[in-house]
Amino acid sequence: MNMTGKTTVITGGARGIGLSLVEAVADAGGDVAVLDVLEEPKKDLSKLGVTARYYRTDVTKMDVLEDTFEKIERDFGRIDNCVTAAGIVADKSFFDHEWDECERLLKVNVLGTFFCAQLAAKAMREQGDGGSIVLIASIASHMAIPLQRLSMYGATKGAVRVMMRQLSVELAPWNIRVNSVSPGFIRTDMTELCATQQPELYSVFNSAPPIGRIGETSDITGVVNYLLSDAAAYTTGADIPITGGLIGGRIAS
Ligand SMILES: NC(=O)c1ccc[n+]([C@@H]2O[C@H](COP(=O)([O-])OP(=O)(O)OC[C@H]3O[C@@H](n4cnc5c(N)ncnc54)[C@H](O)[C@@H]3O)[C@@H](O)[C@H]2O)c1
Repeated sequence: MNMTGKTTVITGGARGIGLSLVEAVADAGGDVAVLDVLEEPKKDLSKLGVTARYYRTDVTKMDVLEDTFEKIERDFGRIDNCVTAAGIVADKSFFDHEWDECERLLKVNVLGTFFCAQLAAKAMREQGDGGSIVLIASIASHMAIPLQRLSMYGATKGAVRVMMRQLSVELAPWNIRVNSVSPGFIRTDMTELCATQQPELYSVFNSAPPIGRIGETSDITGVVNYLLSDAAAYTTGADIPITGGLIGGRIAS
């Protein structure tokens, strides 16, 4: 699963799951281009021991995205892999969802994912030696958990999974593999935000998964590194749930 000589673009890489993925790719020897809207990443990228650059980028702005991908190709010379982890959540009653907030969720989670994958795939097609794209979906695209109210968020992640399957077929002739990962409850600022709004969720996050604990960002990295690497050369069109067993059923509270 060595990634020496490969460049991986990771969106949402300034913190949370995305940042852990940045560190894991660097641990495997890969260079990383990190995209996020935050002013700076939560960790110093210069200490990763590989070439790692930060590009402050809003994935909902196409002109900014095109500019960033041009810079990445200039700075790194190539793009071999892309992981789309940039995402936002809204955990609230279906009856309280409003148009503007739903539009924002669709822009970040669906269009941001779609066009980052498109720009990465264009670079890979041009280079002519394949590539790997991993889209971060969610367990919310597979099932609903009582207490969490993720109607629009879940819909955006369903779109991400369907997008993954469509792209896996369309991009296969260029040997560009496309897979997704569906995390369950993972301890990040995103789950903290949901639990702050609804404190009962703290115990659900730890008690509902059959494995008996909330996931850590490090629980996601092995699978993503595998999907990015040549070890997964024949894997495309797959969604891998990483949920501590929640995908099979929840422990009753
Ligand atoms: N934490 C979980 O339990 C969980 C579960 C399932 C799926 N996910 C998904 O995993 C991904 C990472 O989430 P996380 O839990 O690490 O949350 P997080 O909030 O810590 O990370 C999300 C990152 O995306 C960035 N981002 C948001 N809008 C952006 C934009 N317009 N342009 C560029 N960057 C933007 C944020 O700044 C942040 O750094 C998200 O797609 C999320 O939906 C998380």
